[in-house]
Amino acid sequence: MADAGPDNVAQTARNRAKIAVFISGGGTNMAAILYASRLADAAYEIVLVASNMADAGGLELAQLEGIATFVHSHKGHSRANHDAAMEAAAKEAGADYLVLAGYMRILSDEFAQRWQGRILNIHPSLLPKYKGLNTFARAIEAGDSHAGASVHVVTPDLDAGEVLAQARVAIARDDTAETLGARVKLAEHQLYPRSIADYVSRGSDPGHLFARVRELALALPETHERTSHGSPGFRVGSEKTGKYFAYFSDRHHGSGHIALLVKTSGMDELLNLVESQPDTYYKPAFYGASGWVGVILNRPDADWDHIAEWLERSWRSVAPARLTKLIDAADMF
Ligand code: GAR
Repeated sequence: MADAGPDNVAQTARNRAKIAVFISGGGTNMAAILYASRLADAAYEIVLVASNMADAGGLELAQLEGIATFVHSHKGHSRANHDAAMEAAAKEAGADYLVLAGYMRILSDEFAQRWQGRILNIHPSLLPKYKGLNTFARAIEAGDSHAGASVHVVTPDLDAGEVLAQARVAIARDDTAETLGARVKLAEHQLYPRSIADYVSRGSDPGHLFARVRELALALPETHERTSHGSPGFRVGSEKTGKYFAYFSDRHHGSGHIALLVKTSGMDELLNLVESQPDTYYKPAFYGASGWVGVILNRPDADWDHIAEWLERSWRSVAPARLTKLIDAADMF
């Protein structure tokens, strides 16, 4: 087992993702998430429990456990204003992610968009079945063999974002919505903490980051993958005469970064990027000397649209004119 001396503990604490949990009710999921966060090597910590209901049971528990709480009633406020207050509190607490745990408010589209990819929800059904309310009664009524719970990424469409994980719960012949709901809760308490941990760890998981880069790189015309000096790279053109437009670098040469290396226009641009945005860019060993910049992927707010733009730009800079013409023509429509 690794040494858990004070230095290691401090190091681990620094690396934990910070989550704000939004609740409206009893907060049993919040409690499960909280106690999981107190286990050794947990991937996240709760920095705030926020609610739209002053009497939400979970608030008291959070306070008892020394977690900051925030209450802002939705009554008498527009959705946008209420969302803005909740968002401000989460930001103030330093949250990287928002976790909805029985938060019975629909978020405004703008709010969901601003936190795209950084809000999770648990819903008490096996999505895509039974979005919305009364999920247990509907599953029993339909004669389903199983009910369950789903953890999904929140998007502007209700209960429709990518499903990350599900727990199945068998329905007994004499189940009521209450008895079934109680068992689904037990399953939720197992499912949610683990799904959150997996999700927030994605951003530092080289396998996950590489899969995303590869999907974007190989979606560009006439590209293929080839390893160069131990790093996976992507080339445009034929297997014989193709040119590299990107490399994936996993903490090479002690940099600590998992990064995408792409071509800049030259040393001026490279140094300018590194100096003005040191959290996003760095000058990689060896490749930096010929104008390749490292775009850091293992950070909580990595912007994948931006990463896709870099890949396309770098691809353009080495692709033969017959291919760039094609993509220019396609872009016009
Ligand atoms: C949970 O069962 C959760 O799935 C559900 O509210 C309950 C909250 O319980 N969420 C929704 O229905 C969201 N549409 P808790 O307050 O004890 O965690």
